[in-house]
Amino acid sequence: MSVHQQVKKVTTHVLKEMKLMGEKISMITSYDYSMAKIVDRAGIDVILVGDSASNVMAGHKSTLPITLDNMIYHGAAVRRGVKRALVVVDLPFGTYQGNSKEALYSAIRIMKESGVEAVKMEGGEEIIESVNRIVSAGIPVMGHLGLMPQSIHKYGTYVVRATEDDEANKLIDDAHKLEEAGCFAIVLEKIPAKLAKEVAQSVRVPIIGIGAGSQVDGQVLVIHDMLGITQEFSPRFLRRYHNLYQEIFGAVTNYIQDVKAVDFPNEKEQY
Ligand code: KIV
Repeated sequence: MSVHQQVKKVTTHVLKEMKLMGEKISMITSYDYSMAKIVDRAGIDVILVGDSASNVMAGHKSTLPITLDNMIYHGAAVRRGVKRALVVVDLPFGTYQGNSKEALYSAIRIMKESGVEAVKMEGGEEIIESVNRIVSAGIPVMGHLGLMPQSIHKYGTYVVRATEDDEANKLIDDAHKLEEAGCFAIVLEKIPAKLAKEVAQSVRVPIIGIGAGSQVDGQVLVIHDMLGITQEFSPRFLRRYHNLYQEIFGAVTNYIQDVKAVDFPNEKEQY
């Protein structure tokens, strides 16, 4: 029986064991109770309450505007729907880059007020002091390297990262620093598959990829993208498992027609 089938509750230790056993980790985003309940019952290993909520829930162009209070709200809603998956919440832009004390304060607020089990932070060397401090307080931290959407204004574009040696070498170095600082897993976003494989083979913590090829320890996708709710976002790495935009559009169109034609509610649907 696989580790995935055996465990009643996924913890950071379970993820490390899955890596040791060569068992892939499944991770997906969720931002609300109802969706989290479905993906948890489907058997997902990790639910990320991503700051992508800023885009797909709030309609912002980037992840920068979302606040700590917003993330706590989404985290708490997800937590209430989940029994088995490990729930991780993104520390939003501006709540940890200032200094390690502020970072710890933000992480503590998330843990206390949403009841989730871990936080995720973007960055390498620059955030090591904060990672150390948060981990020392007993809060599990997931790292995030490669394309880091909170730094979009530094890059100016969402193209694939670390294609040049300098950036690739820094990424490898950063992954080791995050591991040493106590991160329990690291997300690698939109980097060459060969580089992601090298990182996954050179650290003991699980590497979760998004646009980082198959030779890593797990995969993550934004649920609105993989379900086909978002239409305008089509990077090469995205596999759409459904066209929920069309499904919802069709259902709402039928409902409107039924209301206009006084076909809804019918006699059985009233008191
Ligand atoms: O915010 C998010 O959804 C993420 C994933 C893309 C990994 O960080």
